[in-house]
Order: sequence, then C-alpha cells, then structure tokens
Amino acid sequence: MRPWERVHHMQLSFGGIAATLVALVVVLFLRRLLPEGKRNRGKAPLFFLVLALLLRGAAIAADAAFAPTAFAILNFLTLAFLSFGISGVVDMLLFDILLSRTRVRVSKILRDLLQAAAFFFIIMGVLKQSGVNLLSLVTTSAVLTAVIGLALQSTLSNLLAGLALQVDQAFGIGDWLQVGQRTGRVTQMKWRTMHLVNKDGDMVIIPNAELVRSEVINFSRPTSAHRMWLRVSFHYRHPPNEVKRVLLSCTRDVAGVRDEPAAECVPLQFADSSIEYALRYWIDDFQQDERIDGELRTRIWYAAKREGLEIPFPIRTLYMNQVTSIEASVQEQQEFLDRMDALARIDLLGRLDPSERELLAEGMRRVKFAAGEMIIRQGDPGDSLYLIQNGSVGVRLSVDGAQKEVAALAPGDFFGEMSLVTGEPRTATCTAKTDVTCYLVDHASFQRLLDARPKIADEISSLLATRQVELASRQRGLSEEAEARRAADARSRLLARIRDFFHLG
Ligand code: CMP
Repeated sequence: MRPWERVHHMQLSFGGIAATLVALVVVLFLRRLLPEGKRNRGKAPLFFLVLALLLRGAAIAADAAFAPTAFAILNFLTLAFLSFGISGVVDMLLFDILLSRTRVRVSKILRDLLQAAAFFFIIMGVLKQSGVNLLSLVTTSAVLTAVIGLALQSTLSNLLAGLALQVDQAFGIGDWLQVGQRTGRVTQMKWRTMHLVNKDGDMVIIPNAELVRSEVINFSRPTSAHRMWLRVSFHYRHPPNEVKRVLLSCTRDVAGVRDEPAAECVPLQFADSSIEYALRYWIDDFQQDERIDGELRTRIWYAAKREGLEIPFPIRTLYMNQVTSIEASVQEQQEFLDRMDALARIDLLGRLDPSERELLAEGMRRVKFAAGEMIIRQGDPGDSLYLIQNGSVGVRLSVDGAQKEVAALAPGDFFGEMSLVTGEPRTATCTAKTDVTCYLVDHASFQRLLDARPKIADEISSLLATRQVELASRQRGLSEEAEARRAADARSRLLARIRDFFHLG
C-alpha cells in the first residue's frame, strides 16, 4: 500500500472511531431520557457500538498492508455493527422517546419488523460494498429461493397473521378469549404466537395463523359485561311464573352478579320429564364465572327445597324408596316434637302453654338457607317468623345508605317477629352467615293462635317492646331512664298496631 493510501485508510479508521464514539455518547444520553423501567432498551445499540469500536481497534492493529484479508473482514464487521448500533439509536429515539410522547402507539410486532428490515438492508448494503450481492444470489438461485421460502412458510404466515391481529386490535393483553375449545386470559402477543393463561393457571400457546383462521370470542369486549346461562329443570306441576320468581330471587346479592342489566328467566323447553328453564344473568369478571355459577346452583338447591319445587330425576331413573306407614308416622311425630321443642326454646313464645304451642307447631315448616343467602331484606313486605335451629344469622341495618351489622343470631334465637305481628315492612336485613336451618312460623298459624287466645297479643307486645328498646339502646347508647320511657311508648304503640292488624277490637 502506498503512503497516501495508508493515510487515507487511517483517516477512515479514525473517522469510524469518532462516529462510533459520538453514537455511544448519544445512546448514553438517550437512555437517561427513558423512563426507569425501559432503560434496558438502550443495551442492544450500546452492545453493537462497543463491539464496532473494538473491531475498529482490531482492524487498525491488523493493518491492511500486512494482513489484508483480516483487515477486510474486520472492516466489514465494524461497518455492520456500527450500522446496527446506529439503527438501534434511531429506533430508540423514534419509538421510545419521540412517539411515546405523542398518542401514536406502534405495536411491538411492527416495531420488531421495522428493525429486522433495517438490519436486512444494512447487511445487504454492507455486503454489496464488499462486492457480494446477496440479493441477486437469492433471486437468481431458484433452489435457494425455494429452500428459504419453504423454511420460512409457517413462520411468515404466523408473522403476517400477528401483524394483521395487531392492526385489527380486536383484542389486547388482559382480554379473556375463547379460541376453539381453549379459553384464557391473554398475557403476551408475540411475533408468531399468542400466550393465554387458562383458569387452571396453565399457559396455552396459540399460533397467530390459527387465531386468524378460527372463530375467536372476546369476553372482554366491547365491555367486560358477559351474560351467563344457567339451565335447570323443574317438574311439570310447578307453574312457570312461580319457578321464575324463585330462580330470579336466587340472583339477588350474589357477589359478582350485576344488578344491571337485570337477570331474566325463561322456560327453554318442555322436555320428557321436566320443563327446562334458563336463568340468564350478567357478570363483570369472567374469571369468576364458574364460582358464581356454583354459588347460584347452591342457592337454587336451597330455594327449591324451601319452596317445594322438585328438580326431577330423568324419567328412566327408578327411584325406589319404600317407607312404611309406621315409619312415616314415627318420623312425622319426631318432627312435630322437634318443632314444639324449638318453640319452647324462645322467650317470645316459651310462655305459651303446650296446647297453644301445638297450634303454632302444626303450621311450622323447616327451611334451609345457604351461607351468604339473604333471608329477609330490609323494607320488603313479610309476615313470617324464623326460629334458628342451626347456623348463624347476621342482622344488618341500613341507614341512609350506610350499613351496619347490629347483631349475630345463633341457634335458639329468632327473627322476623316484627313484621309477623305488625304487618310492617322488614326493619332489617337478615343474612345467613353459615348454612342455616330455621323453622318458619307464618301469619296464618299466628292468626290461629291469637284467635284462640287474644290475650297473647298483650304478652308479646311487652316482650317485643323490651327487645326493641334493648336493641335501640345498644345502637344509640340510651340512658336507663330514657329506655324505660321508650319501652312504655313502644309497648302501647305496638299493642295498638297488633290489635288493629289482627282485628282484635
Ligand atoms: P322484622 O322487622 O320482621 O325483619 C327483620 C328482623 O331483624 C326483625 O324483624 C328482627 O327480628 C330483626 N332485628 C331488627 N333489628 C334488630 C336488632 N337490632 N337486633 C337483632 N335483631 C334485629
């Protein structure tokens, strides 16, 4: 190499070093502009630039005059890495700094594609400068083209599908999707695949091309509201309106069931041995669908039992249960004694003599509630008294929208007496804290008792008044004196109300 050529090479080498150093300083500066979590974005350009710098040093050391091949290779690599580094800087500046400050959002796949295209053209350019025309090699060699084409076929179709999905924006990270038989929440959308995590916590990987081909249901769009269907069958003898009322009441206050749009219930079909109903209700959180469905089915079982609705067995099931008449009467007698015992356990009715208690016990029936079910709602009309046999019941008061639990009732306690004796709307909300079994005393049985012995109204009203004032005093911290005054007032008000309600004159 002649001396001036040598000088020219040295100028080129040092010019390259200067350009690399400038690019390095720019990367370091730009990284500081990135938000804390995105700082590692600058790592790749930094890596390429440092590599270019080292290779440039090695090229200078190789010296074109003494090792021309090594010099040429090192020069080629330096140029390639420098170009990669600079394209990385441009990418960072454009997408992470400039566009992130505007409203324009570029999908990751598009960004990766642009970067890959930049790398491709850089390699082509650098190779061309070194005298190799890779493009013409590829386009003129039919075999090579076919090999590359076949190898990339599925990758490219997935990649293009991924791009189409990103452009469509039909779903995004966090959405709940159903693709074929698979359901899950989108956690990642990649070049070739999309990752879902299903309800069992397992990852499902679906190629993008499959997503484009198949029908996809997005449970999170247009809104997170999703309508659920619960199918249940009841015996033909139950009137549909009665069944609908019971089923709809089961959706009240179930955590996760939306009030709006309201739940609805329709008879779906008259089947061989039953009428099939669909209870349709709306939820917000698709992840909770199975829990809510299970909760509702539990409530439906309890409500059906209480209301005497039969969920029939398929007609071909032979249900053989022979209960002899003696066994049946023993069982009936035992149940009657249990009811008498339950009545004797509460102060409100414990003072009745056995014959009076029998009047009530005859009309009593046992009802069960699932944990969490609302038994009585404040403000609703009602005329039944509940005696708790098993479980615990919470009493909640709503005052101007604020809610407060005022009592927790246990076996032996009772509730619902206020509406039973006054006919006024329920004064509080009573909810089953655990699974609860109660005996229910209805208005008709109570009427029979009062008809038989009207004086009972007197006793009950003073007992109730004491209870009412006790409860009120607990809430408001009334003094002893005020309590007595209130008791007297409450007693006469209640007595008048009971007399009026039961037409006792
Ligand atoms: P009732 O008004 O028929 O329906 C709600 C029931 O909750 C009510 O009868 C009482 O039995 C019960 N209740 C109301 N307030 C209280 C309270 N402060 N403590 C205990 N039970 C209550």
